[in-house]
Amino acid sequence: MISNFLPKKPGPIGVFDSGFGGLTILEGIRQQLPQYDYIFLGDNARAPYGTRSFEVVYDFTLQAVRRLFELGCHLVILACNTASAKALRSIQVNDLPYLDPDRRVLGVIRPTVEQIGSLTRNNHVGILATAGTVLSQSYDIELGKFYPGIVVNSVACPMWVPLIENNEFDGPGADYFVQKYLDQLLTKDGDIDTIILGCTHYPLLMNKIRKYCPSHITLVPQGKYVADSLAQYLDRHEQINRLCTRGGTCEYLTTESPEKFMESATVFLHEQVQARKIVLE
Ligand code: DGL
Repeated sequence: MISNFLPKKPGPIGVFDSGFGGLTILEGIRQQLPQYDYIFLGDNARAPYGTRSFEVVYDFTLQAVRRLFELGCHLVILACNTASAKALRSIQVNDLPYLDPDRRVLGVIRPTVEQIGSLTRNNHVGILATAGTVLSQSYDIELGKFYPGIVVNSVACPMWVPLIENNEFDGPGADYFVQKYLDQLLTKDGDIDTIILGCTHYPLLMNKIRKYCPSHITLVPQGKYVADSLAQYLDRHEQINRLCTRGGTCEYLTTESPEKFMESATVFLHEQVQARKIVLE
């Protein structure tokens, strides 16, 4: 139990990802809700999560959530589809009750799924995601619940996150793998008119994805939808909203070298950031 008997002290909103991908979500959130304070935590030392087992993703994600709670966050966004698919539900159901039932952990899959009805014109949707997210079938299940009859096809893109984590997302080496996975998806269903980029890293490959994706297909990055959903959530949940401090700051934590994080994060966010190293266990 973290602080059930202590007076609740407001704190920043925590944003967690295995690595740099969560920055695409953080950016969307900060554009829409710049007044809040944030802590971004990237588990870069252990990324990628996408090929790891359910148990490992769950353990790593729980470690991150606990740390963000200890750092004063009352609300944590899992800015990671793999963690949202494999760990979110267990954390909400099994861990929050004993950690602190008044804190909240939210994911990125539901806010994305909710928007798809207004984006697809023919109900043929493609998912590009990590192997873990694809295998979990979280998108298929959620999309099926919201839009019965929708046709969903998925392809895992195991090479995309390593390209991004290693700063090769704009280099010529990325072209081959971007084209390969897009072709695989469109071979499965040539009628797809909407593709969910179901990994928060993938918007960092957007230039390449646009290059190889037919122009009539709508590409769906998640940042804006997660931000919209968070804004509505905070409006509806005054008790949590009151516990989120408003100073417009953002602290960056990484489990890898802060220098490496700062170099890449500066490229992705187009601004200089300072980062601090932490150890998760
Ligand atoms: N960015 C994460 C996601 O949305 C995880 C990628 C990874 O670590 O494999 O799935």
